[in-house]
Amino acid sequence: MTSFIKHLIRVLRQPFNARHAFRRLQEYHDRPRSLEEVVDWAMNFGGDGYMRVKTLQIPAEITRLARAVQAIQPRIILEIGTASGGTALIWSHLAAERVITCDLKDMAYQTPLFTRFPPPGSGCEVTLLSGNSHDPGFKARVARELDGAKVDFLFIDGDHTEEGVTADYLDYKEFVRPGGLIAFHDIVEHQPLPTNQVFHLWKRLKPVARLEEFVNDPQQRGFGIGVLHVPEQGAPDLPT
Ligand SMILES: C[S@@+](CC[C@H](N)C(=O)[O-])C[C@H]1O[C@@H](n2cnc3c(N)ncnc32)[C@H](O)[C@@H]1O
Repeated sequence: MTSFIKHLIRVLRQPFNARHAFRRLQEYHDRPRSLEEVVDWAMNFGGDGYMRVKTLQIPAEITRLARAVQAIQPRIILEIGTASGGTALIWSHLAAERVITCDLKDMAYQTPLFTRFPPPGSGCEVTLLSGNSHDPGFKARVARELDGAKVDFLFIDGDHTEEGVTADYLDYKEFVRPGGLIAFHDIVEHQPLPTNQVFHLWKRLKPVARLEEFVNDPQQRGFGIGVLHVPEQGAPDLPT
């Protein structure tokens, strides 16, 4: 099916899909959720078309990351790679003030749903930005959104090529406060897709940063989350 036909079907089904998604959101918001429940919702929210909410993370890995993020009591979270909003749902549960989540694709259909992710009573505002993280104009837009504020947690889960993930790290690390965290998805070396090359950057960071690995099974193919603890002087540059 061409992407135009796929888009057309999604647009025609949008009112039905939106009704279903908002019902699911209401159910999710019905009562306070534990972090484990939020992760479970991120994996199994369901929905269809543009209203599908989903993450393709390993539950044990993303739960460990979510706990590490919760421990630093984040005010502001920045994510590169929104996709179907699964991890944005988790960050919206954790951030006290702001989640900024970015993707290459246009997210106009998703915006009314994803911006309502934070639980009732939360002061968190969700901002969806569409654009290429490698575009200097896009980085300037993120900077304008932050208006000088620092991010507590940066999740880099966009371009997985060595060049792309390295550029995201070098371009966006300046926004993260000392004591904050930067996490990368898909750090294991054995990957199903040749374009998943995050491990190259991960190896380069090992000698210069305090890192933690959340890897469910050392033999697994794909996945794995790496966390960098940002020191007082800021996230390090890469050794040459
Ligand atoms: C693996 S998915 C993100 C999954 C999401 N974090 C989750 O687990 O729920 C990667 C997303 O990054 C986006 N992406 C890839 N390259 C990008 C870039 N240069 N700038 C912004 N987004 C990008 C893709 O469009 C895709 O939706």
